[in-house]
Amino acid sequence: MKILVTGGAGFIGSNFIHYWLKNNPEDRIVNLDFLTYAGNLENLKDLEGNPNYEFVKVDIADKKLVDDLVKGVDMIVHFAAESHVDRSILNSEDFIKTNVMGTQNLLEAARNNGNKRFHHISTDEVFGALSMDDPKFNEKTPYDPRSPYSASKAASDHLVRAYFHTHNLPITISNCSNNYGPYQFPEKLIPLFVTNLIEGKKVPVYGKGENVRDWIHVDDHNAGVEAIIKKGKIGETYCLGGGNERSNMQITKSILGAMGAGEDMIEYVADRKGHDLRYSIDYGKAKDELGWEPKISFEQGLQDTIEWYKNNQEWWRNIKNGEYQEYYNKQYSN
Ligand code: NAD
Ligand code: DAU
Repeated sequence: MKILVTGGAGFIGSNFIHYWLKNNPEDRIVNLDFLTYAGNLENLKDLEGNPNYEFVKVDIADKKLVDDLVKGVDMIVHFAAESHVDRSILNSEDFIKTNVMGTQNLLEAARNNGNKRFHHISTDEVFGALSMDDPKFNEKTPYDPRSPYSASKAASDHLVRAYFHTHNLPITISNCSNNYGPYQFPEKLIPLFVTNLIEGKKVPVYGKGENVRDWIHVDDHNAGVEAIIKKGKIGETYCLGGGNERSNMQITKSILGAMGAGEDMIEYVADRKGHDLRYSIDYGKAKDELGWEPKISFEQGLQDTIEWYKNNQEWWRNIKNGEYQEYYNKQYSN
């Protein structure tokens, strides 16, 4: 099988490519990524020269190039997106261009080239925010996105389902909770806090740190995506979660404790606008229908992730210094 992975130079996509080629070494992967600020080919350095791996720098909104690439593959696994909520609050333009229009362009290419199999990676944020005692999100929860990021992802989910109903495109969708693990861009909570502490800087907690997220290791997420690709029912949506609800303050204290830092390293900062209180996923459908469930305990996963950031300082220091992007933009300028 030849798979077009979009956004494969980002956090989850690069982990997916490693995961897939390890578990399916006979398959071939074309990694389509535009190398925005979040794309980093360092994440895939070990695959250079692998005959089953190829990288192309393309914008998913580019009609001609995307159409050409989709022609040559058996399926599309679509990770590419603008992914950071805070950036969408500052300016949502790229979120609409990439997450909505880019997804529409990929869907058109899939339909115009013989209805290619399409798996869409989405988020639990499309369901909105839970109160502390609401039941968890599941596949039947009504959509209620509340940030420009989650609104753009909700729009993309609706488009993907519309192509199934209207054009019979063989799609599946996964809505996953908060991922953590290696190669996560240090603008997100866990890598930002870990790298700040290594640098001797304080960690910025929004508001009182009472918001709750459901954390899943990126390898568990990608195992869920593999299960959906291999066993999922066409047209269906699957919710994937870690079964690990933690408040931001709990996460912060776990990181401080694991890194031998005290609570004096916390800096309380202004809250995120429209900050969703709680996300949590009921993954019962994926468990019952696909036999999937998360395997990595949060304690072990967090410890391993902290170790990874300690052992890969060049990777994130280059990002924090902004050097890597300049280099790769030069390398891949058309
Ligand atoms: P990321 O920001 O780390 O990576 C996004 C990748 O997409 C980057 O490599 C970037 O260069 C690429 N990209 C952006 N715009 C593009 C464009 N126009 N054309 C081609 N490539 C483009 O994101 P991530 O955290 O790895 O998230 C991947 C996907 O998973 C996203 O769809 C996101 O919504 C979803 N998701 C993320 C999480 C999470 O916790 N990070 C949880 C659930 C779902
Ligand atoms: O739920 C899935 C989503 O998880 C994905 O769809 C998104 O792509 C991904 O970015 C993530 O969104 P969040 O907004 O939940 O993740 P983030 O790491 O930005 O923030 C996690 C929580 O920590 C959130 O409540 C805000 C808080 N926070 C975040 C940062 C960056 C802080 O308190 N301080 C910070 O500096």
